[in-house]
Amino acid sequence: MIRHFIDLWDITVEEGWLVLDDSLRIKEGAPQEKILEGKYFALIFTKPSTRTRVSFEISIRKLGGEVMFLQENNLQLVRGEDLKDTARTLSRYLDGVVIRTDSHEKLKEFAGYSSIPVINALTDMSHPCQVLSDVFTLYERFGEGIKDLKIAYVGDGNNLCNTWLVAAGLFGLKLFVSTPEGYEPSSYYYQAGEDLCKITGGSIYLTPNPVEAVKDADVVYTDVWVSMNQDRDEEKLQALKNYQVNSELLKHAKDTVLVMHCLPAKKGEEITEDVFERFVDFIFTQAENRVYAQMGLLKLLFTQQ
Ligand code: CP
Ligand code: NVA
Repeated sequence: MIRHFIDLWDITVEEGWLVLDDSLRIKEGAPQEKILEGKYFALIFTKPSTRTRVSFEISIRKLGGEVMFLQENNLQLVRGEDLKDTARTLSRYLDGVVIRTDSHEKLKEFAGYSSIPVINALTDMSHPCQVLSDVFTLYERFGEGIKDLKIAYVGDGNNLCNTWLVAAGLFGLKLFVSTPEGYEPSSYYYQAGEDLCKITGGSIYLTPNPVEAVKDADVVYTDVWVSMNQDRDEEKLQALKNYQVNSELLKHAKDTVLVMHCLPAKKGEEITEDVFERFVDFIFTQAENRVYAQMGLLKLLFTQQ
């Protein structure tokens, strides 16, 4: 069976916890079988990347696979070759593709014609590998206690925010989301998260009031206000002004609060420099953990084939 990983709901609740456990074992140094030996992967990215590209190359190689990096502008796609023909061609050569693209719809179209697993490395709508890894970063510290944490996402209702809604559902988390009016997350992802919450006991609470979201929070998460390929929209930046993660806002959180950021950060915008530096170790542990969480995910997707 081909296992695509387009959104977090492509794995089951049970598989989600298995990946967290396995990622922890991998990070702790458990010997790993080279389960991707003899398998060939391509990373196809139409947007810049530091963490996702490097961590995926390492995750694949550590499991014995071969990987090549392709940019859309070097493929015939740029001259108008169909996405479906590209998917059908690459399926004849490769064993898996990891794609970063502007359009979630295009990613789904590609997956529809691909006979090999397609992994979402960020679209305009979601970034499941990042959030899976972020949940792993919390799991590494709190174990199953992650279900008892109050997690606040504050800022733009973007691809990261959408993915957190699904993560709350999948892992049964208590998520508070605070975004300004007009910049809320997608109602589709909200509904998917809510549906999963009914099974796992998670909860999602949306509020335009960042203080309410951050009050007594254990974790505060933020992301850039201007995502890749978006214009700097002054009206949006103005609307987000009160959603900055700064020391004033954090006074409302627990003393033990942890701040998370998927990076890259725009310091002085969604997060202040002092707050960023205060939580720098945890933030770069998030970045580091991409390798382990993706290894756990790859093992899940490629050992069941
Ligand atoms: N967080 C993340 O996906 O970073 P990159 O854009 O550097 O890959
Ligand atoms: N929301 C950001 C995330 C970057 C990892 C973007 O899409 O640019």
